Amino acid sequence: MGLKNDYLNNLFNLRDKVAVITGGNGQLGSEYAKALLSVGARVVVLDTTDGMGERLADAGGSLMYLQTDITDKKKVERALEAIEEKWEAPHILINNAALDSPPGANPEENRSFEKYSLESWQSVLGVNLTGPFICCQVFGGKMAELGRGSIINISSTYGLVSPNQGVYKYREEKEGVPFVKPISYSATKSAVLNFTRYLATYWAKKGVRVNTLIPGGVFNGQDQEFINEYKKLVPMGRMARGDEYNAAVLFLSSDASSYMTGASLVIDGGWTAW
Ligand SMILES: NC(=O)c1ccc[n+]([C@@H]2O[C@H](COP(=O)([O-])OP(=O)(O)OC[C@H]3O[C@@H](n4cnc5c(N)ncnc54)[C@H](O)[C@@H]3O)[C@@H](O)[C@H]2O)c1
Repeated sequence: MGLKNDYLNNLFNLRDKVAVITGGNGQLGSEYAKALLSVGARVVVLDTTDGMGERLADAGGSLMYLQTDITDKKKVERALEAIEEKWEAPHILINNAALDSPPGANPEENRSFEKYSLESWQSVLGVNLTGPFICCQVFGGKMAELGRGSIINISSTYGLVSPNQGVYKYREEKEGVPFVKPISYSATKSAVLNFTRYLATYWAKKGVRVNTLIPGGVFNGQDQEFINEYKKLVPMGRMARGDEYNAAVLFLSSDASSYMTGASLVIDGGWTAW
């Protein structure tokens, strides 16, 4: 039994590794932060929020917060300097920050495709695609220089298949205005898949692994009408809990996935299986 535990501990060992999580104050980013802290990693949260959010208030462990807009390269470069000054260059980067429009969002951000604003399109592209591009240049570039690292890019089932607009229909029925999940989210989440493959092959011999994690929808107190419709489309018949991607993050971050690069890990209760 003791032997087995040693084997697992070595395989998944993340003690003292430095992990950067963009959007780490959000629902899933804070779950990843807590999971990594619980196994002894040092965690840096980059977010635009004023300070460390409530979700991480009692997290404990080696946790650092840097208010950083990931679309601003100079700020990301400054973040790397601050991390190196306090600890050392990151071993793990989770490109998790993203703009989305959840089912409860303002209809202005969820107009028909024909009326979706260029401004919204560009701001979603900025955070969801240019942000990871900048973070990979800055943190990934440093990892390649040092010959080690694991990058996890967060996509979504909506990057593999189109959103099923039927799950948002109740909004239009209730409010009399169209509510359409925007194309910008799907297009950026799909782009992440080949962004990953490009960098995985580019850095394959430099010791930097790059993979995509593809989560399905997470329960977050959404409208009951949405939940009812969503559940019907999931073979497992439920939304994910916020902590159900943590094991995948620990796997992709650690040597347990040492031969895995350029791959996509889908965890979606079966959403894309039928
Ligand atoms: N929640 C879900 O159901 C779900 C499903 C599939 C995929 N995902 C993906 O998981 C990731 C996290 O989702 P979430 O639900 O936790 O989102 P969230 O909205 O709770 O968190 C996103 C965080 O990103 C931060 N952020 C926004 N713009 C930023 C910027 N320019 N620079 C730095 N930080 C910025 C926000 O302040 C926020 O804290 C996203 O990539 C999302 O697309 C989520």
